[in-house]
Amino acid sequence: MPTIQDVAKRAGVAPITVSRVINNSGYFSEETRERVEAAIAELGYVPNRLARGLRIKQTNTLALVLTDITNPFFTTLARGVEDAAGEAGFTVTFCNTDESEAKEQKYLEVFLQQQVDGILLVPAGSSPDSVHTAQKNGTPVVVIDRRVPDVSTDSVRCDSEAGAYKLVRLLQDLGHRRIAMLGGPEGISTADDRLAGYRRAMAEIGQTGNGDLVQSGSFTMSSGYEMVKTAVAKTPRPTAIFAANNFLAIGALRGLQDCGLRVPEDVALVGFDDLPPALTTFPFLTVAAQPAYDLAQIATKLLLARLAGEAPETCQEIILQTELIIRQSSGGSLIRNGGCDRSLE
Ligand code: RIB
Repeated sequence: MPTIQDVAKRAGVAPITVSRVINNSGYFSEETRERVEAAIAELGYVPNRLARGLRIKQTNTLALVLTDITNPFFTTLARGVEDAAGEAGFTVTFCNTDESEAKEQKYLEVFLQQQVDGILLVPAGSSPDSVHTAQKNGTPVVVIDRRVPDVSTDSVRCDSEAGAYKLVRLLQDLGHRRIAMLGGPEGISTADDRLAGYRRAMAEIGQTGNGDLVQSGSFTMSSGYEMVKTAVAKTPRPTAIFAANNFLAIGALRGLQDCGLRVPEDVALVGFDDLPPALTTFPFLTVAAQPAYDLAQIATKLLLARLAGEAPETCQEIILQTELIIRQSSGGSLIRNGGCDRSLE
């Protein structure tokens, strides 16, 4: 009985390409289509729908797709994945997409050709294509950190909307009303959800039209630097800044310093994601901390259970909560508990 590998060999392509031609999905040239179809006819290959649902072979390898490997949040995520995978006898191969959906799709095809057993994906945007490509190949995917619409797959992330809401409510409890937001790229779910949390908190104090206080940029320090300078140039000047991730907060801090503004004396500053203690000799930022390591462990163990046929039948959506850690950057009176500063919940 000819196999997909026989067809691939006869046509001179990778098995994943044969799968794409059969499913008419993903990229391949007309010439490739003709070669594959000729090989199928010559060999009398009959695609087995059940077999297509099975992986071509077990390689004990997981793929991890990250968007910014320079970000400590993602390196902590990678650490959690590698620890959980290693305990189960799996190796991890990873890539960095720089928030590019084109790079993401390219890497997905490479990983499928390498026949990884499962994929942990931080999506670069909101396209379902990568998840669909993997699933058509019979490779399970767990989406981590972010949401992707129109897919049925396991996912593990933090509640960005609630985390943002808690941070902005804290600023309001400290007396701030003109609170500027430095947001991430529209269309990325963590950016959209943090903006939604900000808007919910601002609506509770009767502020709905905060157009002049909200900016969207990229999850980078340079974007935080530029956006905060724009924010504090407005009159009346905002008295507080909410940065939608760690790099935006660091960039904002540098921008405020270059504008001659002190934190928190002149402007309060809060952000998403804590920075690893090893990187901060003096933890200063008030943050909504995401449990990146735990998130990674949960997602990896879910993927391994899916591979072993031990996961629940239905797709799992696991949402973890952030932890509000109050430090000097938000100003106001602090409740100190055990060396770290915590708000009264
Ligand atoms: O700093 C990383 C965090 O911000 C992640 O949640 C990522 O999605 C970005 O939004």
